[in-house]
Amino acid sequence: MKGLKVFSGIQPSGNLHIGNYLGAIKQFVELQKENEAIFCVVDEHAITVPQDPEKLREKTLEVAMIYLAAGIDPEKSIVFIQSHVPAHAELGWILNTLTPLGELERMTQFKEKKQERKGTMAGILNYPTLMAADILLYKTEAVPVGEDQIQHIEFTRMIAEKFNNRFGDTFAIPKPLVDKNTARIMALDDPSKKMSKSAISEHSYISLLDKPETIQHKIKIAVTDSQTEIGFDPAGRPAISNLLNIYSAFYNEPTDKIEKKYSGKGYAEFKKDLAEVIIEGLSHLQHKFSELSKDKDGVLEILRKGAVRAENISSKTLQEVKEKIGFYR
Ligand code: AMP
Ligand code: TRP
Repeated sequence: MKGLKVFSGIQPSGNLHIGNYLGAIKQFVELQKENEAIFCVVDEHAITVPQDPEKLREKTLEVAMIYLAAGIDPEKSIVFIQSHVPAHAELGWILNTLTPLGELERMTQFKEKKQERKGTMAGILNYPTLMAADILLYKTEAVPVGEDQIQHIEFTRMIAEKFNNRFGDTFAIPKPLVDKNTARIMALDDPSKKMSKSAISEHSYISLLDKPETIQHKIKIAVTDSQTEIGFDPAGRPAISNLLNIYSAFYNEPTDKIEKKYSGKGYAEFKKDLAEVIIEGLSHLQHKFSELSKDKDGVLEILRKGAVRAENISSKTLQEVKEKIGFYR
């Protein structure tokens, strides 16, 4: 992948975990090298479920610091907070007026959230139009995400094509970029569910900021199966396969090599090493994160500068859209 316009975002709505890292952030860092990349902290998406105001501010900075600590270079890529750039909400509104209600109602995330909570807010329904606006404002060609976001990107493609057909060529049609090995990291306590920020049990995920002892403990109690040999078989043995996958992604070796390495060895030894591999894999990020935490004003300054750069690009697209749909300048 080279010379593409890349955009992605993460919600500041909980603790970022190794699923976010392996499914999304690790790709961001790679992609920024040879592409024009923009990474956003999507606080306007986070408020589609209730958030405590102080906590939201704290988590917003935390996601930004994780981007930077993971290796995103703000001199090269643009890093900013969604609510700092009003064009997102504005284009989101315009796209809402072109979106059939049925398209929004059939989204998996909407159906899940509606089931989870009493009193679902309209923001959850309209979530995909705001996400489409995020992506389309920058004429984005590629969107690195985990598997759960593919449906939203397909929706974005649909709405971009619809706009282009009706008002003339305006938006690029973006593709999802998914790393098939890590697109869906499963929960440690239940391999039938994806690892999730909003999980009730902290033991279901490893936070990017977990201490070594916590990581050791969480891996120790992670579910496996009743067999004795380590083996990779995602359909038949999802729990151990998920752990092998995590090992493989942090260790940068294919799963069959890891499988061989542990042939004839027990789960306890494998788990002990896996915890070490994760601790080692996160140590640089955690070190940088703690450095950045000492200068939060400096981080906010980076984000404000990022917003100015994002504004320069997005305001042009928004102006083009407004003229095409018949608004006065
Ligand atoms: P979210 O936590 O929903 O804001 O997601 C941020 C990014 O992480 C998105 O690209 C998701 O697709 C990705 N992601 C979230 N959970 C996982 C997971 N369990 N495995 C892989 N990628 C994930
Ligand atoms: N919906 C995404 C998630 O929950 C976050 C997001 C918002 C996003 N806008 C985006 C991802 C634009 C990619 C591109 O993970």
